[in-house]
Amino acid sequence: MLLLRRCRSLTRFGPLNTQRNPVGPAVASCAVRLWSSGSSEEQRSYRHAHRPRWRHALAGLLAGTGAVLAYGLHHHQAEQSDSTSLQTIEKISTPPIFTQEEVNSHRSLEDGVWVTYKGGVYDITEFVAMHPGGEKILLAAGGALEPFWALYAVHNQEHVLEILSEYKVGELSAEDQKKQQTVKSSDPYSSDPVRHPALRINSLKPFNAEPPPEILSDSYITPSAIFFKRNHLPVPQVDPDSYQLRVEGLSEGVLTLSLKDLKTKFKKHTITATLQCAGNRRSEMNKVKQVKGLNWGIAAISNATWSGARLRDVLMDAGYYPDVSQWARHVQFEGLDKDVTGTTYGASIPLNKAISEDGDVLLAYEMNGEDLPADHGYPVRVIVPGTVGARNVKWLGKIIVSAEESHSHWQQNDYKGFSPGTDWDTVDFKSAPAIQELPIQSAITMPADGAVVDRSDEEVTVKGYAWSGGGREVVRVDVSVDGGKTWQVAQLRSSEKEQAPAPSPPPGQAWAWKLWEVTAPLPQEAQELEIVCKAVDNSYNMQPDTVSPIWNLRGVLSNAWHRVKVKVRED
Ligand code: MTE
Repeated sequence: MLLLRRCRSLTRFGPLNTQRNPVGPAVASCAVRLWSSGSSEEQRSYRHAHRPRWRHALAGLLAGTGAVLAYGLHHHQAEQSDSTSLQTIEKISTPPIFTQEEVNSHRSLEDGVWVTYKGGVYDITEFVAMHPGGEKILLAAGGALEPFWALYAVHNQEHVLEILSEYKVGELSAEDQKKQQTVKSSDPYSSDPVRHPALRINSLKPFNAEPPPEILSDSYITPSAIFFKRNHLPVPQVDPDSYQLRVEGLSEGVLTLSLKDLKTKFKKHTITATLQCAGNRRSEMNKVKQVKGLNWGIAAISNATWSGARLRDVLMDAGYYPDVSQWARHVQFEGLDKDVTGTTYGASIPLNKAISEDGDVLLAYEMNGEDLPADHGYPVRVIVPGTVGARNVKWLGKIIVSAEESHSHWQQNDYKGFSPGTDWDTVDFKSAPAIQELPIQSAITMPADGAVVDRSDEEVTVKGYAWSGGGREVVRVDVSVDGGKTWQVAQLRSSEKEQAPAPSPPPGQAWAWKLWEVTAPLPQEAQELEIVCKAVDNSYNMQPDTVSPIWNLRGVLSNAWHRVKVKVRED
């Protein structure tokens, strides 16, 4: 491996500075040149002995597993090849400088796969070319490795860095290293936080993005960095020391609470809850007929632990008493994010959900055990488990107990469902209720649509998620690999641990999704599989089988059976 890699370095530091793209041929010719001293049999056995180690070492590097195991093998061989080949290779001392733009242009096997790490530029093309599951590694292509490694602490180890160092082809220009920190002050989005590059961006300003599905189902608790992000406005800068939450509409007049008050005056509660955007899977509705809205795939959904004070406890402190429900019906929330006219994001939920002991509505100040990240509502957001994402107001500034729903655009003129027959000329937003609890949902995260499976594997493993709104528990997921002719029941997982089935939550409080997995035999003869999933909740709600009958002009509530097509490659 070193032999080949050092040869690549030679090539890169010289002629490839001006002609970097044809990585494959350059590497091949270099390898032939160096190997020409040995017999072809020796070359074959060298390659045979080294390739699997590249695969495992870099799989570990980038995907988070296997690095430690791979290191032993890698290191042993590296030492051997070092001793035989190093004397024959000329050392080049000045690394070439690359711009970020140049690195960005290496995002595929054809153009080469480059990544940066701490100012260094690395070419990992060969590994990706040989790795069957290379799509996860490609997520980092053309960009920085640091954010990916931050997801998997295992990478920050000396031996992993040592493996990576062998792939170095140059340095990132000082200007580009600085640029990453620079922001334009005139832009209302200039203080938006830095986001994880694995996110698939649906809109940059405001920022809306979802994680790649295959990463989503890797962890039961979604790491905050890749949790889907749905912002309507710039992320507000909120000073935690001067932060004040106003609670209005109750007998005590206006109650104001600091962040410290929220943390110290009220008991801290923690729940695990899934958030899903009403527009999740909108792209499937777009295929039936164009709808208005961001083209979300299947990952505008994520699962996290949330900690904070109960809304119920805060309302009690503000003077709530049972008679209030004779005149009040709703609890409104206002965010601190504003549009150019000063209008804030707002939404409301029914008072009985807010005040119910079993409702578990939180004024959350922690996500996954840490302060809320800026994108997810720092310092305080509402978590309304079982309820559409839109009501989970971030950067919470005000709570109003009221006879009326929120007057905000997002409560009145958005996030509502309509008949497939309703169009923009006939729609009357007042005629439909605001979405609160979401319907049963499931989707396939692996394999991806268009993936290829080998006939010789004889079976295919299918993974995904399932969730239902209103605290209804998912009790079954059915999976078919023949378009719905025959079905298998998937194994459900409701904790981080693969094997240990967690006990069911109390009825009506199943706030978190279940991940699922099934391995099915490949149907004989089939050249293409249509893989389908559908979930069932404990009210026996099931997903509709096709999208057309649930199509609606805003593309919300898209929860038909999820289907992916996969090709079978004959040996
Ligand atoms: N709260 C405020 N203040 N501003 C927003 O734009 N977006 C809402 C909700 N709360 C929003 C908000 C929508 S539509 C969704 S789906 C969720 O936040 C997304 O939460 P997340 O970004 O933490 O995933």
